[in-house]
Amino acid sequence: MAKLAVYPGSFDPITLGHVDIIARSSKLFDQLHVLVVHNPEKQPRFDSSQRVNLIRESLAEAGVAEDNITITELSTGLLVDYIRKVDAQVLIKGFRNNVDLDYELPMAKVNRDLSGIETIFISADPQYGLVASSLVRQVAALGGPVENYVSKAVAKALREQSK
Ligand code: PNS
Repeated sequence: MAKLAVYPGSFDPITLGHVDIIARSSKLFDQLHVLVVHNPEKQPRFDSSQRVNLIRESLAEAGVAEDNITITELSTGLLVDYIRKVDAQVLIKGFRNNVDLDYELPMAKVNRDLSGIETIFISADPQYGLVASSLVRQVAALGGPVENYVSKAVAKALREQSK
């Protein structure tokens, strides 16, 4: 059976750490869906269609082939609704440190309770992965350079938003 994995997140915006997790995960599974999910706890900086476009542009810049990657969005409902709809077998989450794991482990349990889906955690490469989208947004909003953390497309979109 072909294995389909879903990598969900806010991606507001996608960072180079996310790009690295996508590139590595796409080699482990037959199909990977990168899913921009509305997080009810957060007020997004970019709307979901912008986030989808920025993911696409960031992958292209990094030379990540989209052959087995689908980029899409879930604007309402539970993540497990999408999991069931596409019949995915695995959820992917990246983690940078124990703070991320403390945040992610309860979600992994709830998602498994709700649907039986297993979450696989992939450790972020520190070269790319230590900086969070929230910090990138803050640096950009205050006029700082973010090119070390995000693609050129995302850096441009952040600069345009800050004008
Ligand atoms: O990048 P984030 O903000 O850490 O991603 C969190 C996200 C969007 C994956 C999570 O909030 C989520 O799955 N939201 C969808 C609603 C849902 O299913 N909630 C229960 C998850 S246990």
